Amino acid sequence: MKLFTSVHDVTDINSLAAEALALKQNPYAYKHLGENKTLGLVFLNPSLRTRMSTQKAAMNLGMNVMVLNIDKEGWALELRDGAIMNGTTVEHVREAAAVMGQYVDIIGVRSFPGLKDREEDYSETIFNKFVDFCGVPVVSLESATRHPLQSLADLVTITELKTRRRPKVVLTWAPHIKPLPQAVPNSFAEWMCKADVEFTIAHPEGYELNADFTNGATITHNQDEALADADFIYVKNWSAYEPYGKVLPGNEDWMLTNEKLKGTNDAKVMHCLPVRRNLELSDEILDGPNSVVVHEAGNRVWAAQAVLKHMLEAL
Ligand code: CP
Repeated sequence: MKLFTSVHDVTDINSLAAEALALKQNPYAYKHLGENKTLGLVFLNPSLRTRMSTQKAAMNLGMNVMVLNIDKEGWALELRDGAIMNGTTVEHVREAAAVMGQYVDIIGVRSFPGLKDREEDYSETIFNKFVDFCGVPVVSLESATRHPLQSLADLVTITELKTRRRPKVVLTWAPHIKPLPQAVPNSFAEWMCKADVEFTIAHPEGYELNADFTNGATITHNQDEALADADFIYVKNWSAYEPYGKVLPGNEDWMLTNEKLKGTNDAKVMHCLPVRRNLELSDEILDGPNSVVVHEAGNRVWAAQAVLKHMLEAL
């Protein structure tokens, strides 16, 4: 594997999830693979889970890891081709990415969307510049439109905890005060559409995701109906795709509560984290027996390790 940016970079998602679960049982089985190899993690935005879990995964494989919070610690980056750099930017991504590729064997990049220009965000301009110029394999640590390491960890969690062969999985929109990217729901949807699950997306009117990511899902505006008999509920806020990046008024009653869990198959509740308590998800859910959010975050290590193992094997 030379590139991990979406579900389309994976030949068999079920065997990758199974591999992640095998690594969970035997974390150091491939410690020799990463000997004298270096992973570079480049963050243009904040992170707790992605940063620490990917570092841990690399260390389990025997790799060295270098982290650069380029938004805070690097030179101000120019992304526009042909720019006359007489303003605040100091270094062009063409040189910055190419130089990083001299120091490391694999690069991970996190780059959020601006949520102002849909065309620019959905063309993945920033992420693709790193891919084009760094000269080494690239793993997405969340891009403008997708978060594939999170989605693989989510598939691993569902595979591990399911009690029915083909569980019902519901992605439900949740309230938030700020416009958030569509990357996590887009990505979760495209992975679930390929997984062996019954997949439903529930959201208020106006929060339709880009149809490219949801082909095969059942989509409804009725949250109660969607949650009926659910085995897994994936809670996530996202801003509107049209009008792009906007928070629409109302919909506070979409926050999941214990009352809403009553019609489910004792559903396990997932969230990628970070989560705003009592806005996106209630205390009673997060502190209750149905929440698996911390377990899910723990599985980020094994998802990242499975992907890095494939990348090391292809070097
Ligand atoms: N879920 C997730 O990606 O968390 P971080 O933003 O903390 O990495």
